Amino acid sequence: MATKKKTKATKSRAAAKKSAKKVVRLATKKPAAKTANGNGVPRPSTKPYGQAGKALDGVRVLDFTHVQSGPTCTQLLAYMGADVIKVERPGVGDITRGQLRDVKGADSLYFTMLNGNKRSITIDSKHPKGKEILARLIKYCDVLVENFAPGALDRMGLTWDYIHKTNPRMIVASVKGFGPGPYEDCKVYENVAQCAGGSASTTGFREGPPLVTGAQIGDSGTGLHLAFGIVSALYQRVRTGRGQKVLCAMQDGVLNLARVKLRDQQRLKHGPLTEYSQYGEGVPFGKAVPRAGNDSGGGQPGWILKCKGWEEDPDAYIYFITQAPVWGAICDIIGKPEWKTDPDYATPPARLPRLKHIFGTIEEWTKTKTKFEVMDICNAVDIPVGPILSMKEIAEEPSLRQTGTVVEVDHPTRGKYLTVGNPVKMSDSITEVKRSPLLGEHTEEILRLLGYSGRDVDDIKASGAITAPEKGQAQAA
Ligand code: COA
Repeated sequence: MATKKKTKATKSRAAAKKSAKKVVRLATKKPAAKTANGNGVPRPSTKPYGQAGKALDGVRVLDFTHVQSGPTCTQLLAYMGADVIKVERPGVGDITRGQLRDVKGADSLYFTMLNGNKRSITIDSKHPKGKEILARLIKYCDVLVENFAPGALDRMGLTWDYIHKTNPRMIVASVKGFGPGPYEDCKVYENVAQCAGGSASTTGFREGPPLVTGAQIGDSGTGLHLAFGIVSALYQRVRTGRGQKVLCAMQDGVLNLARVKLRDQQRLKHGPLTEYSQYGEGVPFGKAVPRAGNDSGGGQPGWILKCKGWEEDPDAYIYFITQAPVWGAICDIIGKPEWKTDPDYATPPARLPRLKHIFGTIEEWTKTKTKFEVMDICNAVDIPVGPILSMKEIAEEPSLRQTGTVVEVDHPTRGKYLTVGNPVKMSDSITEVKRSPLLGEHTEEILRLLGYSGRDVDDIKASGAITAPEKGQAQAA
């Protein structure tokens, strides 16, 4: 058995060597160096923090993603140091390059903000030569990430069986709209997932229709889940030596983010949801979790209140939480010290039926202050409040620039633009945000890396596998 395994491994190594002359071994493939405790973990590095490389250095990602969900995932992997090679259709590329364009002839912000730190190679995946290049890429990489419509990867000939046979170590990670079941073949976009994952039915005001949120919980949220799955699979591979399939359905990703609403659905069987303001208003509950407006999702009542200037500024609001331990401080600040001892207001249960009146009274006070003044006054006494920040305010916020959460990047055709840097800050893996690649910017460089000679590259160019067809070339919108 052991001999059989060894033979297979030897064969696969030989194949990889043949197709890719420059084989840089992965850090995770290296046998553990002298270990401190014998469990495979190397001795602690003596390099200063931030100078021992990046978390995913050495991990190579064959990025077959497009639009938002998949690119969110691979951008995070790239931020963490993975070498992300984005495969795009010649002449067209990721459709978002041309969507919602603001600068004529330049890649859109939709694309640039989701594809930083990656390399771009154009390959027609249905061209015979294109398939050959892809086979080399499959041998070269550790992870293949895709979010094509169901079945599209198989139609390219890139079935799990083929990929696994070509590179048994390859992790194949996919975003789909739905998991196995009645809707598995559907194409899905952000808002479809928000609706199917239970978010829309529980968002908005009771009297109004279901609402989608501005945060892209279906696309970016699922990409984030997928990144977690990939990193976990890479870790498991250290032990098993083999890849696996990683699937994230957008419906599942949204439901995971809306899990408190599934919690409330089950609580409904045991009585009304007392923290929902409709309870205090005497409105009966139906069979499903209702929309809760701006009620707080936790046990601490909260609401959005107007602040000074609300008449002109649509974002002059603050989220105010009447957390029980600071109730006394709230009463003092809003000029209602008598509420501290009044039995109608002194305890959380007594306050529940009066929340509308209580928040109305607090709002009379917040309307006399700007949202930032409310922040200062309340935070000084530990009252949790959150200013409603506009995207303009966020874009201009110096502290977000300092932490690298909002980053200005320079781009050769569109000039400077803002992007969101790595929201995960690590003390020993420092993210440097780089601009997104131009379409096919690294095609030749990657082909050479895969072992093709200069003459091979010329032949490949002439074959049409990496260049756009002369006629019928799709135009970006
Ligand atoms: N060379 C040749 N063909 C390529 C190619 C390349 N480099 N890259 C893509 N294509 C082809 C695909 O093979 C597919 O062809 P086929 O349908 O003939 O097999 C075609 O391009 C279109 O791919 P598809 O994924 O169907 O794109 P779409 O624009 O029709 O659908 C989505 C877009 C997002 C709806 C769909 O991809 C999807 O449902 N994805 C999964 C869920 C998801 O991620 N949704 C959120 C996106 S943010």
